[in-house]
Amino acid sequence: MERRHIALKDSIRSIPDYPKPGIVFRDITTLLSDPRAFRRAVDALVHPYAGGRIDQVAGIEARGFILGGAVAHQLSAGFVPVRKKGKLPHKTVSIAYTLEYGTDELEIHVDAIKPGDRVLLVDDLIATGGTATAAVNLLRQIGAEVVAACFVIDLPEIGGAQKLRDLDVPVRTLMEFE
Ligand code: PRP
Ligand code: ADE
Repeated sequence: MERRHIALKDSIRSIPDYPKPGIVFRDITTLLSDPRAFRRAVDALVHPYAGGRIDQVAGIEARGFILGGAVAHQLSAGFVPVRKKGKLPHKTVSIAYTLEYGTDELEIHVDAIKPGDRVLLVDDLIATGGTATAAVNLLRQIGAEVVAACFVIDLPEIGGAQKLRDLDVPVRTLMEFE
């Protein structure tokens, strides 16, 4: 039986008041578990960079690992994890940051990339841009050229994508929510 073609945006589940009152959590697990939606999202993230040179995809823990790994595979690039504090075993650089519903610290291995490597940053969602800005700062500290950043979801009213663009990082997103 042929399945109806639903808009990618309809594959996202919205959960009010999670993890805090007033936050509408945009849950990508429903996109990931739908084989066609997952493929379409990864293909759309990859498309602008196919045919160009991306040496490494940097994915932000945790949801950026799932999407970033698939994107790296399709671009025949390496994958570099940007992790929450205390998870990486070798020498790291770290940075504290704030996000829509809290504060945290991100780390990257000092030798994760070769100086001048062209890096694509991938995550599921950009809200305040605090997380992605911290990741760009870490990547630049270890010598990366951050070519672009891409996300499935943008929350444009919060302004994070514009913050990244102000740092000279081109940003692409697949859909917007209020
Ligand atoms: C979420 C999301 C982004 C970040 C965006 O991650 O996956 O990484 O928040 O928010 P910001 O633009 O306001 O910084 P979260 O820290 O909840 O971690 P998780 O992926 O481990 O759930
Ligand atoms: N990360 C930051 N804000 C978020 C939201 N509203 N939904 C899911 N992840 C987020």
